[in-house]
Amino acid sequence: MDRSVGAAVRRSAELERQLARDPGRFRVLTGDRPTGALHLGHYFGTLQNRVRLQDLGVEVFVLIADYQVLTDRDVAERLTEHVEGLLLDYLAIGVDPARSTVFNHSAVPALNQLLLPFLSLVSVAELGRNPTVKDEIAHSRQSAVSGLMYTYPVHQAADILFCKGDVVPVGQDQLPHLEITRTIARRFNERYGAVFPEPDALLSAAPLLLGTDATKMSKSRGNSIALGADADETARLIRRATTDADRYITYDPESRPGVSSLVLLAALCLDRDPYEVAEEIGAAGAAGLKRTVTEAVNARMAPIRARRAEYAQDMGYVREVLRAGNERANAVAEATLDEVREAMGTTR
Ligand code: TRP
Repeated sequence: MDRSVGAAVRRSAELERQLARDPGRFRVLTGDRPTGALHLGHYFGTLQNRVRLQDLGVEVFVLIADYQVLTDRDVAERLTEHVEGLLLDYLAIGVDPARSTVFNHSAVPALNQLLLPFLSLVSVAELGRNPTVKDEIAHSRQSAVSGLMYTYPVHQAADILFCKGDVVPVGQDQLPHLEITRTIARRFNERYGAVFPEPDALLSAAPLLLGTDATKMSKSRGNSIALGADADETARLIRRATTDADRYITYDPESRPGVSSLVLLAALCLDRDPYEVAEEIGAAGAAGLKRTVTEAVNARMAPIRARRAEYAQDMGYVREVLRAGNERANAVAEATLDEVREAMGTTR
């Protein structure tokens, strides 16, 4: 673990203590790109955590990042379908629109306007150094790198700062974006007067789940189990999952990534320790492991899938959730933009 990740882990632990003590003091902002169905990796990595924070009494904003989709592709395909899929996933896992605000980029003009002053606060060299952006450029399916690819972390700063979010639950890959957000907040405050908080990342404790092919779980690799998948599809995906030649099941993520990720998935679904789960399966081998995982996933996801199916029967309500969320996000964004105008001495 490098030093900055270590510091973020320690800071997250301290934040957790403060959140438990005084949840009303914090505002959480987090989001997803609408590029496909959310999967079990998202669920155990971040989604569950959002609901936990909401239920703790923290105010939560959930962004559907529909402009950020355009960083590594020319057109955002099937946007409406993906946005509605995310809304269904959020509602199914327990995001409560009475307490949490769900909104999308393109519906909140004042948020997007913050991009302009924010861009003036960072150098081109700083944008070029962002390791997550570099990695995305390396894996991009575009022949040319767009300006948005370099500047989207600044846009992400606007996502977080428009509502003065101070806690951002994310994975490690997002730490560089949090760093640029803190830099922008600090520079804005120094130059124009104190308007913005310097937000912290909140890293989740959940260990990393691999996909069914034992590589990184990803929407685009066809190796993930969607939240909305049914029991049969789940069984089929797990049956095809990569294991290894060792008959006896153990939990050993370093040398047995495929088998261990399946054990971990079962353990997360069962709220149990992966070493214990592996020991119990032991001689039952890969077939026994897959049986345990399938049962565990289907049992854990059954109520979520049932709720998702119910909401899918009422898309009018689902769309209304987003409309109301956007209305609230717009009010918050306009209030912040007014403060920014005041601080910068621009008029309206
Ligand atoms: N970059 C995030 C991702 O790829 C999505 C995102 C957009 C986000 N804006 C955000 C996350 C603001 C946290 C805060 O998953």
